[in-house]
Amino acid sequence: MDDPIPNWNSNLGRSGGHWDDGRWYDIHLERRMPQAIPMLEEMALALPPLPPSTTVGDLACGTGNAAATVLDAYPEIELVLLDEDPDLLSIAHNKVERMTRNVEPLRVTVPTSGEPLPGGPYDVVVASLALHAIVGHDVDEAEAESRYELLFRSIQEPLEPGGHCIVGDHVGTLPLYPQLKAMERAGFTDVDCAWRQDDFFVAGGRVPDA
Ligand SMILES: C[S@@+](CC[C@H](N)C(=O)[O-])C[C@H]1O[C@@H](n2cnc3c(N)ncnc32)[C@H](O)[C@@H]1O
Repeated sequence: MDDPIPNWNSNLGRSGGHWDDGRWYDIHLERRMPQAIPMLEEMALALPPLPPSTTVGDLACGTGNAAATVLDAYPEIELVLLDEDPDLLSIAHNKVERMTRNVEPLRVTVPTSGEPLPGGPYDVVVASLALHAIVGHDVDEAEAESRYELLFRSIQEPLEPGGHCIVGDHVGTLPLYPQLKAMERAGFTDVDCAWRQDDFFVAGGRVPDA
């Protein structure tokens, strides 16, 4: 054994757990965060119909749950998995590889300064529980608004005209309405919320046609 096993009692605190561990994350997600499962389903349902060979990026894919949900709905898409954590990316790749050969894992730290998201062009970018993690938890509202706008610019840039960005997240870092406004300022159109339960939501927008 290379590393010691983490202490079990970190599971026992109110907000404890081993969220950085992909296996632990996957077996605890439904119990610890019950809204996350309907959120993932609602993300797939919020998508327009995706023709074969549609290129879908799963931004900050973690263990690949959004990618797997979208792939289950549209098995002929081509997937790009993006995450900075090699262990999580590997779990995501293994999960999705059982469902398709059309998958490319990309280990990358997603830019937070507005440069284009790598790995494009994309027809669709999905991001589940991802944007608040990239923006960060401990930022004031004005800073969060500006970081969200830059992040949406990064996503918008490699999307094809008519491409879509579908976000499932919670509002821990920034309320939903300013997130939607940041998406509009970044150049998205048809920005709206498709589903909301408690602090969880699914929202999206489209890149204007050329
Ligand atoms: C809460 S997890 C969500 C994972 C997954 N999308 C899901 O729905 O379960 C947040 C993910 O964001 C990734 N992440 C955070 N900041 C990142 C950055 N700047 N670039 C790439 N990945 C990042 C983490 O490695 C982690 O996998």
